[in-house]
Amino acid sequence: MLIEVERLTKRFERRRPSRRPWDVLTRRSVPAPDSVIAVDDVTLGVGAGEVYGLLGPNGAGKTTMARMLATLLEPTAGTARICGHDTLRDGGAVRARIGVMFAGERGVYWRLTGRENLEIFGRLQFMPGHAIQERSAALLEQLGLAERADDLAETYSTGMKQRLNLARTLLHDPPVLLLDEPTAALDPAAARATRELIRTLQGAGKAVLLTTHNMHEADEVCDRVGIIDHGRLVAEDRPAALIASAGVEPRLELQLHGDAAAARQILGADALWWGDVQDDGGIAVAASAPGGWQSAERIAASLKAAGVTVIESRLREATLEDAFIKLTGSRLGGSLESI
Ligand SMILES: Nc1ncnc2c1ncn2[C@@H]1O[C@H](COP(=O)(O)OP(=O)(O)OP(=O)(O)O)[C@@H](O)[C@H]1O
Ligand SMILES: [Mg+2]
Repeated sequence: MLIEVERLTKRFERRRPSRRPWDVLTRRSVPAPDSVIAVDDVTLGVGAGEVYGLLGPNGAGKTTMARMLATLLEPTAGTARICGHDTLRDGGAVRARIGVMFAGERGVYWRLTGRENLEIFGRLQFMPGHAIQERSAALLEQLGLAERADDLAETYSTGMKQRLNLARTLLHDPPVLLLDEPTAALDPAAARATRELIRTLQGAGKAVLLTTHNMHEADEVCDRVGIIDHGRLVAEDRPAALIASAGVEPRLELQLHGDAAAARQILGADALWWGDVQDDGGIAVAASAPGGWQSAERIAASLKAAGVTVIESRLREATLEDAFIKLTGSRLGGSLESI
C-alpha cells in the first residue's frame, strides 16, 4: 500500500470570536470553547494503480484527511504513511513522493505565466531542466493550456488556473497523488479530460486519493470508494458493491395518462412520488421497482388493465448517488445544517 492510514484522528479547537463591545447590544454570550472531530479514527489504504475516492457531505472531513496526508496538518492521533514514510516523522520524504492539489486554493503564482509556474515548481522538486520542459509541454497540451502557456496565470479563468494547478501537481511524476476536488470548477470537456488523465495515472501504477462531490465521476473513475460522514468512514468498497450493499432499489419513472385515482390505487404502496395531475390528465410518478424490469412490467400491466395509459416508462438503476444519500442520510452537509 502506498498510502496507509491507521486510526487517524484530527480534532480542531472550534475558534469563535471572543467578547466584542457590541455583544452587549445583541446579548450574545460567549460560548465555552469546544472542539470538533474532523477525522475520527479512520483506517484505510490505497495501493499502487488504485484510485480511491473519498466521498462525503460538506464538512465530513475529506480535506482535513488530505491535508494530514500532505503533511500540512498534524494528526491528533493515529498514523499516516506514504510509501512507508511516516507523515509526522519523515515529512521531507513524504513531500518528495506526493503531488497535492486542493481545489479553490492558490496553488500557482498568478504573476508568472503558466509555463514559468511549471518551471519554478520543477526546480523546487530538483528536476533536470530538459525534463521540466518536456513534462511541462506534454501536460500543458494534455490539459488544454498549450495556447495560453505564455500568458500570466492571473489572466486565466478559474478552471484554467485549476488545470494549471493540476499540471503542477503531476509535473514531478510522484507515485502518490492527493487530489481534492480536481474537477470542481471545470467545464464538462475539461472535467472529462481530467478524468481521463486520472485513469492514465492509475494505469501508470500511481496511488490516487481523490475527493469529489460528483458521484457519477466517482463511479466512473474510482476502483474503490470510502464514504466519510462526520469524520467517520461509514462504508468502503468498489462502487458497484457499495451500490448493491446499500440496498437501494431501482426506480421506475412513469409518465401516465388517465384516471389518477385508479393509478394511485395500483401504485399505492410502490409510489415514491406523485407529480401534479395536469389538466390533460397527465401524471408523472416515480415508484420503487425492487425486482427491476420484472416489477416494472407487472406495474405497467396493472396500470394498463385499469385503463391508465403508460406514455413513457424508464427504469433507473440504483446509482452511487442513491447509495451515498442512503448511507449519509438525506440531510444537507454540516455547513448548511447550522443555518
Ligand atoms: N482550521 C480549522 N479549524 C477548525 N475547524 C476546522 C478547520 N478546518 C476544518 N475544520 C472543520 O473540520 C470539519 C471537516 O472539514 P473539511 O474541510 O475536512 O470537510 P470536507 O469534507 O472537505 O468538506 P467540503 O466537502 O465542504 O470540502 C468541519 O466541521 C470544519 O468546520
Ligand atoms: Mg473539502
